[in-house]
Order: sequence, then C-alpha cells, then structure tokens
Amino acid sequence: MVAYTIESILKEGASLLKDAGISSPYLEAQILLENISGYRKIDMIVYKDRPVDGKTAEKFFQLIDERRKGKPIQYITGHQEFMGLDFCVHENVLIPRRDTEVLVEKVLQLLKDKEKPVIADICTGTGAIAVSLAYYISDSFVYATDISLYAVECCRENIDRYGLKDRIKLLRGDLLEPLFEEGLEGKLDALVSNPPYISNKDMESLPDNVRGFEPHLALYGGEDGMEYYRRILKDASRLLKKSGLLAFEIGWDQGAELTKLLEAEGVYRDIKVEKDLAGLDRIVYCFMEE
Ligand SMILES: C[S@@+](CC[C@H](N)C(=O)[O-])C[C@H]1O[C@@H](n2cnc3c(N)ncnc32)[C@H](O)[C@@H]1O
Repeated sequence: MVAYTIESILKEGASLLKDAGISSPYLEAQILLENISGYRKIDMIVYKDRPVDGKTAEKFFQLIDERRKGKPIQYITGHQEFMGLDFCVHENVLIPRRDTEVLVEKVLQLLKDKEKPVIADICTGTGAIAVSLAYYISDSFVYATDISLYAVECCRENIDRYGLKDRIKLLRGDLLEPLFEEGLEGKLDALVSNPPYISNKDMESLPDNVRGFEPHLALYGGEDGMEYYRRILKDASRLLKKSGLLAFEIGWDQGAELTKLLEAEGVYRDIKVEKDLAGLDRIVYCFMEE
C-alpha cells in the first residue's frame, strides 16, 4: 500500500471524485476523511504532512468508491445539516433538503405569537420539520407521523439527539390516521407536511443519485404528483382548530393546482403560494376559517 500523508490522500481522493463528475471533489474528500479519521478540516490543513495509517487509507478509498458510484454523501457520512441542526440520515429515508427550510421558516414566522402551539408534521422522514419546529418553538408540542419503519427509527434518533422526546410524539401510520387515533380532532394549531409529490413524468427525469438511492416511497406522489395532497385534504380540516394553519411544501409547478384543491374545500382562507430562493413556487399555506 502506498504511504499517504493527509495532503496526498486528499489530492488523490479528490482527483478520483473529479473524474467521476463530482462538483466539489476536494471538499467531499475532506468530508469523507473527516468522517473516518476524526481530523477536522482545520487539522487537515495544519497537519497536512502527517501520515495516514493503512487502515484509514483503505477505508477512505472504499468511501471514495461508493461516492464515485453516485451514493449521496449524506448516506455515507450519515449526516445532513438542516435549519442549523445536525440530522442523522439513514439509507431508505429521504435526505432533508435546503428547500424545505422555506416551509419551516414560514411556519416559525406564522406561529411566533401563538402560545403552546400543537403542531403535526405528516410524512416526517428524518423528522427534519418536526424536530426543527419543536427545537425553535420551545413551548410547542409536535406530533410526527410516517408510514415507513426506517423513517420512524431515524426520526426517533433525531428526537433523542436534541432531547425532545417529551415534546414530540412520534407515530407510525398512514397519513392522518394516527392523529385521529390519538383523538386530535379540532386540536391542532398547525398541520404541516412535505409529502411525496413527484409525478410519473418527473420520476423519469430525476437525477440518478436521487432515483437510484433515495426511497421511492418518499418521492412518488402518484400519476400527477398530487395524490398525497388530495388524501390529506380529505380530512385535514377536521383536525385543525379554527384559524389553524395548514402548510405544505410543493413541487415548482403544483401551486395553482393545490390552491384549487384548497379553494374547493370551502373552509380555508388566505391561501398563499410562496417561492424558494431559486424563485420557484415552493410552499402553499392557508388558515381554517374562524
Ligand atoms: C418527501 S419525504 C419528506 C420527509 C421529510 N418531511 C423532509 O421534509 O425531509 C415524504 C415522506 O412521506 C412518507 N410517506 C409516504 N407515504 C406515506 C403515508 N401513506 N403515510 C405517512 N407517511 C408516508 C415517506 O416515508 C417519507 O418519509
């Protein structure tokens, strides 16, 4: 085995990643080395001439190889930052996206004057939305639901990581069903969801690293991508208090259609569509009538 220093192994790893078309190869090589060696990025600069032992080098190139094959780096390191918090991420659970922070930020803003809000996050995945809301609204109580056992296990880890198990109730089940079983009719101040919303057509054009590695159950939203919104809307109003907030993440082209569905319910007011940082429609929210 070649003897590597920190600098030389990073250079070689980065070069392999670059050849595979990875856009920030040196940074990703650093992240992978950090993950297995305990060296922080600053140490990698200060101690660049230090030797890397054979075992670490072998493991490093294994990870480089996984990454070259398209595995998302978050599934390799098991981490993703979201709303300034560090979430653990498992394979078979959707990696939280920056876009979803737009939804969380809006909900935080809309609930800022509400005392002890009771919130539900449907389709919680890693718990990115539920954990962030509970973390930043210190007097809230949050229900988090998902049908996937992988998601529920991962979400539980994130709840424990931030010491929130007294303020987040995690429930496994189909969409709103667990909330009705908990007797929450008319009790929610806010119902929030980032459900699967990719249509048949858009599934085909997803990047390989998403389609090949992230769970179909977390992505596919039926023929037109709207299936989950329709199902949630069927019963959501029975769970919300008067003036309760309903807020969804959407695909860039789903704002008008979801607005129509909400209007057709006849019980929601002030329906709004808002954009993400890229200028694309990203969230829809509204309030129950008085
Ligand atoms: C787009 S992901 C969102 C994950 C997370 N909320 C986030 O924003 O990162 C959708 C989630 O819906 C869950 N899901 C799919 N079908 C469901 C159902 N029928 N009932 C509850 N959850 C479901 C998936 O397991 C997945 O975790």
